[in-house]
Amino acid sequence: AQLLVLHGPNLNLLGTREPEVYGRATLEEIDADLRARTEAAGHRYASLQSNAEHVLVDRVQAARADGTAFILINPAAFTHTSVALRDALAAAAIPYIEVHLSNPHAREPFRHVSYFSDRAVGVVCGFGADSYRYALDAAFAHLARKPA
Ligand code: DQA
Repeated sequence: AQLLVLHGPNLNLLGTREPEVYGRATLEEIDADLRARTEAAGHRYASLQSNAEHVLVDRVQAARADGTAFILINPAAFTHTSVALRDALAAAAIPYIEVHLSNPHAREPFRHVSYFSDRAVGVVCGFGADSYRYALDAAFAHLARKPA
């Protein structure tokens, strides 16, 4: 199946961005690991990081047509603000898991609200870069239960 991983704003800075909160792994390292695991599991991998809301919306719209079966998304700050990205995922009707490196529930109150969680297959947060790996394993299990 075709998997799409989306990374929101400022995640291009991983490795140097508040490492005490987000860890020292770079986005390139995380992405390479996810790609290797996805391909080893016999699936196809695509990913995109953007600081621009409309770029992420456009990519989700494109996913409707390109055969994407499952999405992992770390909306980053858009988690707490973006009705547009939420609506794009609803329109695409592609199942997704919401991922965060940190645990937003243990942070400032404005991070306790997510526009994505109530429609997600599940949410993985608080495990640093491992959050993505756990979410990927959950995506494989979901795809195995629902063959394309
Ligand atoms: C984040 C948590 C968000 O609150 C924050 O705005 C981010 C990263 C995370 O992965 O922990 O940019 O999504």
